[in-house]
Amino acid sequence: MAQPKNDVMDKIVSLCKRRGLIFQSSDIYGGLANSWDYGPLGAELKRNVKDAWWRAAVHYRDDMVGLDSGIIVHPTTWKASGHTDNFYDVLVDCKKCKRRFRVDHIGDTCPNCGSKDFTEGRAFNLMFKTYLGAVADEGSVAYLRPETAQGIFLNFNNVINSSRKKLPFGIAQIGKSFRNEVTAGNFTFRMREFEQMEIEYFTRPEDAETCYREWLRQRFDWYIQLGIKKENLQLRAHGSDELAHYARACSDIEYNFPFGWSELEGVANRGDFDLKQHSQFSGVDLQYHDQVAQKKFFPYVIEPSGGVDRATLAFLVDAYHEEVVEGRNRVVLKLSKDLAPIKVAVLPLLKKKEDIVSMAKKLKKDLQKDLVCVYDDTAAIGKLYRRQDEIGTVFCVTVDVQSLEDQCVTVRNRDTMEQERVAVDQLHAYLTDKLKN
Ligand code: GAP
Repeated sequence: MAQPKNDVMDKIVSLCKRRGLIFQSSDIYGGLANSWDYGPLGAELKRNVKDAWWRAAVHYRDDMVGLDSGIIVHPTTWKASGHTDNFYDVLVDCKKCKRRFRVDHIGDTCPNCGSKDFTEGRAFNLMFKTYLGAVADEGSVAYLRPETAQGIFLNFNNVINSSRKKLPFGIAQIGKSFRNEVTAGNFTFRMREFEQMEIEYFTRPEDAETCYREWLRQRFDWYIQLGIKKENLQLRAHGSDELAHYARACSDIEYNFPFGWSELEGVANRGDFDLKQHSQFSGVDLQYHDQVAQKKFFPYVIEPSGGVDRATLAFLVDAYHEEVVEGRNRVVLKLSKDLAPIKVAVLPLLKKKEDIVSMAKKLKKDLQKDLVCVYDDTAAIGKLYRRQDEIGTVFCVTVDVQSLEDQCVTVRNRDTMEQERVAVDQLHAYLTDKLKN
């Protein structure tokens, strides 16, 4: 029977806390709104999401390079990018129940109490303000970046001059961004401090449209390749009234979250807005010099911009399965093997038998050089399997009495639950091969 969607979300939030994937930030102080921490397993999962993205965006391509720019940049950056003047949410308060909403998130009716009586809208800039140096005055104002993209534009000339890239080429960056989100989010979907994975792909203006379509296709496919079910993913083109001030076209890649279809990533055609603006505000020429045609021009920019936290949440939601096996409920995270936080768990069948324990520990030590492994002997085998299933461990290796005699172990597959006997001296090759293909 299909479960109510909110029920699924509650179960995932609870699993995340119980198993150390995601914790409420500052919970000993009562929590901090829209802020979450990644626990031991969540840190592994999130790293795997970022590594998979970096491989696809940088390592597997000839036309891309990476960058790691700062969170705080010259404050004029945000004037030039339009964030100081345009990066606002318009907020209204319901006069009856006093709840605060973003105007673009509600119609004319309060989602909490049904009233239609609101205060006038007030514009609220989303950037976090801080001060550089010892004196906190208007002259020392700086901002925590609300997107990683601008660091890429600021380094456009540096990258061209140092890497000698020719058009079309792109610069990829993963890093923290900060937005003073005022409305409560759905778990990690909307956070104040989050990570983005952004690409700025520079192209000739006449190729921009084709390039935009190609990036949309590639980014959509990336989620599918990492295990998201196709029916849970859709593209939604922005209407002209919805486009950001810099965008000529934009489409969102949306995921069917338990709380509804919501944006995972945006792919935008930013035209030549950014490089032009920064040239104008800095006085430095950021045009591309085409040495063959002997002409200079501002390239167009195609920007696939995704959130690490939203992608991680979508992978978790999509992987969450409940099934009944031999009359018992089994919760299993069917994460792709690239994303699973733990690849192999080594489990001794009898923890009181020293030979078994030492064989299992030795196996773990050997495997952990190449694979993320755990050793667990703190429960009976049925319980140990269930613990590993609910965090998505791809393989469980069990050492039993027989193993001491025949030097073979049992390898159990998370998804099929099939078990296979594998010779100890073949185990490393067997597992690395299965985890690669
Ligand atoms: N440079 C373009 C840009 O920043 P955006 O649509 O505002 O565009 C891109 O953000 C992605 O960053 C979103 O698709 C989302 O995945 C992620 N993101 C944005 N705000 C977020 C928030 N408050 N919490 C978590 N992720 C967020």
